[in-house]
Amino acid sequence: MPATVICGLQWGDEGKGKATDLLAAAVSVVVRYQGGDNAGHTVVVGDEVFKLHLIPSGVLHEHITPIIGPGVVVNPRTLLAEMAMLKKRGIATDKLRVSAAAHVIMPYHVALDTAREGAATDGGIGTTKRGIGPAYGDRAGRVGVRMGDLLEPDLLRRRLAAVVEEKNALLVGAYGAAPVDLEALYEEAVGWGEQLADKITDTTALVQRALADGEHMLLEGAQGTMLDLDHGTYPYVTSSNPVAGGACTGSGVGPLQIDEVLGILKAYSTRVGAGPLPTELKDAVGEHLTEVGREYGTTTGRRRRSGWLDLMPLRFAVQVNSASSLMLNKLDILTGLPQLKMCVAYRVDGRLVDSWPLPVAQLERAEPVYETFDGWTEDLGGVRSIAELPKQTRRYMAAIEERAGAPISVVSLGPERNQTIRVDGPRPVRSAA
Ligand code: GDP
Ligand code: IMO
Ligand code: MG
Repeated sequence: MPATVICGLQWGDEGKGKATDLLAAAVSVVVRYQGGDNAGHTVVVGDEVFKLHLIPSGVLHEHITPIIGPGVVVNPRTLLAEMAMLKKRGIATDKLRVSAAAHVIMPYHVALDTAREGAATDGGIGTTKRGIGPAYGDRAGRVGVRMGDLLEPDLLRRRLAAVVEEKNALLVGAYGAAPVDLEALYEEAVGWGEQLADKITDTTALVQRALADGEHMLLEGAQGTMLDLDHGTYPYVTSSNPVAGGACTGSGVGPLQIDEVLGILKAYSTRVGAGPLPTELKDAVGEHLTEVGREYGTTTGRRRRSGWLDLMPLRFAVQVNSASSLMLNKLDILTGLPQLKMCVAYRVDGRLVDSWPLPVAQLERAEPVYETFDGWTEDLGGVRSIAELPKQTRRYMAAIEERAGAPISVVSLGPERNQTIRVDGPRPVRSAA
């Protein structure tokens, strides 16, 4: 397996951090391919809980070279803080490398994201206010600053001088926010370059060399398919491509160098921020999922909205990611619910709809059509084989495989590394979807 993509099939927070940490044991390189510090990937190792925003979740393994790829937007303040946090906890980051082509999230991006969300008259997107949209906007507009530019003070000054005036006109004129001081920003940015000089490099050459040497690697996505800029529920999306296709542009690995796509999902739905979530539950079951599932944002602490598993976007996600198999997380959270439901179609304006995507306006009016399953009462936290799982759990899993169109290869029954079952059997290279 030269390269395996790990990507989210839902609205983010599916457990990509746990998946990456788990699979990292068998590879030598882990590349984050998109997003920025809007991501929050939790890895639990014994009593220790690590919350990672930018550094690939493989960093907890000493043998891993963690790489932040060209598709990521990097806030150097967050990166330096995360490196310091890891160092304090005994985790080395000397092997970390950051693509010189990755774009920098500047303080004016964060200020603009915050100002826009605050000024939105339609409730906004509910972004993480990390400057993600403005930074990717500048990347596409070709006025961004890249990590490599931090190593070239003269160029850096010119790049900043060219944009800061416009950013300040927007911040002050349109939003009544405080302007950014060009000189202070330049000084700070030169400092970032000095502190990160030994990390910033051509990471594409690095990953290609590793592949040529026969090394195996993971390409770790952030967010999820429903938050994808092109395939998600626009405009309630992030500004990058979490789908497996984004793993190529975001890491410098070619499509034919990827031979496995592990799609991550959890046994129910959650969403944080605005936008449609057709199966959202505002009753005791929703409360159960959010509270028992500890569904509070890793990055912003916001309460996540919860609901039943939705097979409509899931089947679509399996297709657009070409997921070769699935990792099903958080099955343990469903314990104790007498009945479980899975959305298999929608009713929109009296019509039955069983395809995805739908225009967001229709999605907001969609009423889920459910298939009902018996629940189980057994605590699954200690189960270590598929055969030991209650038959109701196995039936629920079989329905997911059949409806989503891909086999489950890993099941997770708790946050810890060992609360995981690898499913035996053939793993088709491409899904049957
Ligand atoms: P990510 O953004 O996709 O990496 O997911 P998050 O880390 O934001 O959210 C997943 C949360 O669920 C984390 O707190 C994990 O420790 C936890 N988790 C992952 N798998 C399981 C599981 O199977 N059961 C339980 N109870 N928790 C899990
Ligand atoms: P991980 O990697 C869940 C959501 C935000 C908002 C929308 C746009 O931990 O799964 P942005 O700040 O990206 O412009 O916000 O996307 N969002 C996430 N939701 N998990 C994430 O990351 C997310 N990153 C962004 O809440 O709705
Ligand atoms: Mg998360």
